[in-house]
Formats: sequence, structure tokens, C-alpha cells
Amino acid sequence: MTTQTVGIIGVGHLIRHMMPALVSAPADFLLSPRGEATAADLSHRFGLTVAGNNQEIVDTSPTVILAVRPYDALAVASGLNWRQGQTVLSLCAGIATADLAPAVSPASLVMAMPVVAAEFGESPTLLFPEDARCRALLETCGPVIAVADETDFTPSAAIACYYGWVQELINQMITWLIDRGVGEHIARPLVAQMTRAAATTIRERPDASVTELVAELATPRSFTLKGLDVLRAGHAFTPWHDAAAAVAPSNPEK
Ligand SMILES: NC(=O)c1ccc[n+]([C@@H]2O[C@H](COP(=O)([O-])OP(=O)(O)OC[C@H]3O[C@@H](n4cnc5c(N)ncnc54)[C@H](OP(=O)(O)O)[C@@H]3O)[C@@H](O)[C@H]2O)c1
Repeated sequence: MTTQTVGIIGVGHLIRHMMPALVSAPADFLLSPRGEATAADLSHRFGLTVAGNNQEIVDTSPTVILAVRPYDALAVASGLNWRQGQTVLSLCAGIATADLAPAVSPASLVMAMPVVAAEFGESPTLLFPEDARCRALLETCGPVIAVADETDFTPSAAIACYYGWVQELINQMITWLIDRGVGEHIARPLVAQMTRAAATTIRERPDASVTELVAELATPRSFTLKGLDVLRAGHAFTPWHDAAAAVAPSNPEK
């Protein structure tokens, strides 16, 4: 990939955690001045330029990352003069291309959904549609998973929220251990790494269905099954489906 200028409009929480990875891409980054403290901090840490205004970014950047809050996205995008051949990579949650694409026309719209684990190169980033320049940028943040259809992107993007829900689940189990006298210095790495271990097995063993992997552990009279029976009897998994449905209502086309 040749060096390109990548503008970023919306320098807040997400970009603060993506930037340590993004800077390894062969690109010159140009930050919007809003989110002043974050822009100044990133500029200082990574030697990045802060633009005077958003239009300056659009005028000089073949690729522009849009990472303002979802409720600001349409107003910000439609107030700028975009051009043919330009790519807008929107990271804004919950906005359909039918709404955002006209606001960035004639630039082309690509959407992605990273999480802040990008900072450690571990964001599984959803991308729609496939785009070589955007992929090269996002792969600095972790594995990129492209989908060809927006009806796949919309529910899949809800899994970025699941990232936060799992952190709360981890918090609950750490607290359970601490309440039993285990030190946080033991409880925290143990629960975090056990969660990662469970995910690694699912990722590395595509030969078996996830149901089969669980059954391998939850054998008759096992402690895993004993606890799983308690969870199932308490309908512990139903609210997880409800939470996902709350952030990504089902699509009647599917
Ligand atoms: N945070 C995450 O973990 C995460 C994960 C996936 C996707 N996202 C998506 O990423 C987007 C940003 O989220 P965030 O958590 O980073 O929000 P945030 O911390 O509120 O950052 C948004 C930034 O946009 C700036 N902004 C507002 N209006 C602007 C304008 N007209 N021009 C330039 N910048 C402007 C804000 O500046 P001021 O502070 O000066 O208002 C702020 O720095 C959202 O759409 C969200 O759905 C976030």
C-alpha cells in the first residue's frame, strides 16, 4: 500500500484507542480539531497533524474516517463537499447506508465496526462492503471480517456491544471470586484469561460445532454440567438474545 492521507472526523473515545494501531499503517493521518484534548494528545504522542476544520480534511484526504456520534453523523457528513473517487469509512453505529450514502455522495461509503481492543491489535472489525484501502487500515487493529450484504452487517454490528456485555460478565465473576476472599490480582487475570481461552478453543476448532465443544465439557455428573443446568433453569441466556435484539431489531427481509 502506498502512503495516503487519511483524514479522521470525530476524534473521541474510539479513535483514541484505534490510533496506536492505525499509526502502523502506511498513511499520514489528519485529525479534526473537535475533541480538542484527544486530538492534542494523539498529535503529541504520534506526531499527527490537526486540521483547521473538517472541509480541509475532506479536501486533502482520499480516505476519510467518520467517527462522530451516530446522532451527529448525518448533519456532519451532509455539511461537507465530498468528491468522486473518495472513500468515507464510517465507524458510526446504527446508521443505514440508505441514510448516510447520500450525505457523502459522490464519495463512496464503506462501513466498519471496530472495538477499542484495536489498541492491542485485537479488534475483530466488521467491514461492509469489502474495500482494499479500508481493509489495509483496519487490519492494523485486528482481524477484519468483511460481509457482502448490509442485512448481514446490521445484526453482526451488534456484536460490538456484546464486547462490552462480556466485560460485565467477566466483572461479575471477578467480583464473585473477590467476595470469597480471592485477591483481585489473582481473580482478574484468571477470569479474563479463562474467557479468552474459551474463545480461542471455539476459534481454533472449526471441526466441531460449538454445541459439541460445550457437550465435551458438560458431560454427565460434571461440574460444568451442574452449573450449566443452573444457568439454563434460570433462563440465563434468553436476556442475551433480548439484548442483541434491542440494539439490532430483526430485518423482515431475512
Ligand atoms: N467508543 C466505542 O467503543 C465505539 C465502538 C464502535 C463504534 N463506535 C462509534 O464510533 C463513533 C464515535 O464514538 P466515540 O465513543 O468515540 O464518541 P465520542 O467519544 O463522543 O467521540 C466523538 C467525537 O466527535 C467529535 N465531534 C462532534 N461533532 C463534530 C464535528 N462536527 N466535527 C468533528 N468532530 C466532531 C466530538 O468532539 P467534541 O468532544 O468536541 O464534541 C468527539 O470528539 C460513534 O458513532 C459510535 O457509534 C464507537
